[in-house]
Amino acid sequence: MHEVVKCLQSDNYQVEVGSILNSSLDKILNNEFLNDKKIIIVDENTKEFCLEYIITSFLQLADAEIIELPAGEENKQLEICYQVWETLTEYKIDRNALIINLGGGVITDTGGFIASIYKRGIQFVNIPTTLLSMVDASVGGKTGVDLGVYKNQLGLFSFPFRIYVDPIFLKTLDKEQIHNGISEMLKHGLIKSKDHWNVLSNLLENKIEVDSEIIYESINIKNEVVIADPFEKGERKKLNFGHTVGHAIESYFLQLEKPILHGAAIVAGMMIESYISTKSELLSVNQLNDIVFLMKKNYKKIEFSSDAIPQLIEYMNQDKKNKAGKINMVLLNEIGKATFNLVVEEQIIKESLNWYINDCY
Ligand SMILES: NC(=O)c1ccc[n+]([C@@H]2O[C@H](COP(=O)([O-])OP(=O)(O)OC[C@H]3O[C@@H](n4cnc5c(N)ncnc54)[C@H](O)[C@@H]3O)[C@@H](O)[C@H]2O)c1
Repeated sequence: MHEVVKCLQSDNYQVEVGSILNSSLDKILNNEFLNDKKIIIVDENTKEFCLEYIITSFLQLADAEIIELPAGEENKQLEICYQVWETLTEYKIDRNALIINLGGGVITDTGGFIASIYKRGIQFVNIPTTLLSMVDASVGGKTGVDLGVYKNQLGLFSFPFRIYVDPIFLKTLDKEQIHNGISEMLKHGLIKSKDHWNVLSNLLENKIEVDSEIIYESINIKNEVVIADPFEKGERKKLNFGHTVGHAIESYFLQLEKPILHGAAIVAGMMIESYISTKSELLSVNQLNDIVFLMKKNYKKIEFSSDAIPQLIEYMNQDKKNKAGKINMVLLNEIGKATFNLVVEEQIIKESLNWYINDCY
């Protein structure tokens, strides 16, 4: 028995959660793209672990062109897109074609960007294969690539035709990658839903497996925020909680050519930004302690010294949320409630980074 599919309606596309075999993909391939070219973008791991399941399950994809990208954040770069655009041109891919992004957040971000620029935009669907891309990266229409080490510096909002979230792909992910995804789910709880936070705390405490129901709940929270503000004029900024500091940490390690997992960087970012929330008299000390306790128990410390602080601040100065040369952050008022567009002085950021480096763990 394959799992039933539950649908979430986003702005002008659907997210389907459950077995892809019961999803609308078969119908869409028959009705919307029957005689059109199909291109599946994978990386070396999703080629090995996910591709066969898709092409043997959907006969319409038997003759799809497969484009394999190198795995890893360090390859989320414009040069890679350029090569793919050349390949699409060589394959004579026209504007009616469908791109299927089969992979983690690097593939859905890069593949969505490639599809949106090629010939002024062709349709794409996302089939996320990591937990992080299921609950976050594949949903919401942000596509793009890094510019050197600057995260997501190039990109555009571009909405997929459909998103198919099938937990079957999680079977080949290790525990670290599952925790990588749980970090963004924790963020959804922290900014919007104390209930979701509590369910996740219980899941981590009792080592319960992530299932479609909790994935659906997490996507639902993100989707509600995105529907309210698709182009990030206000409310959607809350989804960046933990990311001002987290992206800076990610950039710092990319520049050292020692990339770390996005989720690990975001956990450190959320701990530091929670500390800043308390220092700013928004979040109670008790709730800060609860957040830090849960994160410390489930995520390893990211090791860097105070010598890194000037570089980290430099990266934060490039953050897309900044205004008038000031670092803007999303801070927590309480678990389940956040405020955006708050200016944070560099001195508080430095103090908070030092707290993480010396006292937090
Ligand atoms: N667009 C957005 O709104 C958004 C939101 C959050 C994160 N992101 C981006 O997402 C990226 C991180 O995504 P990620 O954590 O999925 O990273 P990733 O795409 O690098 O995937 C992690 C690793 O898992 C491998 N993999 C993927 N699926 C697998 C499977 N089923 N079995 C075995 N291995 C598999 C990949 O090859 C890779 O090595 C970052 O670039 C981040 O900026 C984007």
